[in-house]
Amino acid sequence: MTVNLRNRSSVPSAFDSVNRMRIVEIMDVRRESANVKAFTFKDRLCGRAEAGQFVMVWIPGVDEIPMSLSTITADGLSSITVAEVGEATKALNQRKPGDTMGIRGPFGKGFTPTEGNVMIVGGGTGVGPLVPLTEKLAETAAKVTLLVGAKTKDELLFLDRLEKALSNVNSEIVFTTDDGSYGLGGLVTDQAEQKLMKETFDMIYTCGPEQMIYKMFLLAEQHQAPLQASLERVMRCAIGICGSCGIGNLMVCKDGPVLTSEQLRSVKEDFGRFQLDLSGRKIKL
Ligand SMILES: Cc1cc2nc3c(=O)[nH]c(=O)nc-3n(C[C@H](O)[C@H](O)[C@H](O)COP(=O)(O)OP(=O)(O)OC[C@H]3O[C@@H](n4cnc5c(N)ncnc54)[C@H](O)[C@@H]3O)c2cc1C
Ligand code: FES
Repeated sequence: MTVNLRNRSSVPSAFDSVNRMRIVEIMDVRRESANVKAFTFKDRLCGRAEAGQFVMVWIPGVDEIPMSLSTITADGLSSITVAEVGEATKALNQRKPGDTMGIRGPFGKGFTPTEGNVMIVGGGTGVGPLVPLTEKLAETAAKVTLLVGAKTKDELLFLDRLEKALSNVNSEIVFTTDDGSYGLGGLVTDQAEQKLMKETFDMIYTCGPEQMIYKMFLLAEQHQAPLQASLERVMRCAIGICGSCGIGNLMVCKDGPVLTSEQLRSVKEDFGRFQLDLSGRKIKL
């Protein structure tokens, strides 16, 4: 078969650098909560990532799984923050400093930082990609209102980094726990609703469980505020070929993972309701 290189599509091939598997050494492992660990590594391409982009992490003999970048620095020092939920994340969380893992990426569309008055709403491990975003918005936005929620105090992540990022800027931080063990008791979306009733926001950024994101989408629509939300779907190729991450007519790996209000409106049949399972079957969320 002859391959005509002039007709190559915009889909990156295995030979394009971003899609090329690199083996990186784990430089540091930090326990963030009972079942969450952060892994630091160095990679030149990840140093150029946008907040919200993700990498595919290869654990040889187990699986390759998508992970958002929770640290992005210009010198390439990066991290992923991994919640143990199944086989691959368990194997990853057993890795130690000096061990290696494979990475491809960064992939997809990240968050677009804006100026003006912004709100950031995160839940659970979904706060990971919001950390580099908060660090970026601390430089660009006029005011940042950050709301972070978790089930319990022990599951609240990145408190120090978030407080440090916003320490010298016009900002407000609210932490919530479902059981009231830290910050305000109740759901983070209830606090977001109260803020939206009092203030006008130029952009809302969100990541977390899809039911939380869906609620934020409805609130943003009601208050006519634009929204950028990072979604999760099963991912295999990460470059728009295999179709496993489909939502409506969009591919979350390529069109997202960060989708705008307009894109979310276009997939409202599936958003907050259905996803494809590992075998490609449509299942309820
Ligand atoms: C863009 C993106 C960014 C993500 N970022 C993070 C992150 O920063 N931290 C984090 O802890 N988790 C993140 N996830 C979720 C993470 O990829 C899954 O938890 C992981 O793949 C589960 O693998 P497992 O073998 O441990 O569990 P399994 O037992 O295989 O599955 C547990 C759950 O994870 C889902 N899952 C399994 N394989 C995949 C896959 N290939 N792609 C997506 N979901 C899958 C399953 O549907 C199931 O609900 C992200 C997912 C996406 C799509
Ligand atoms: S993961 Fe293959 S198309 Fe998105």
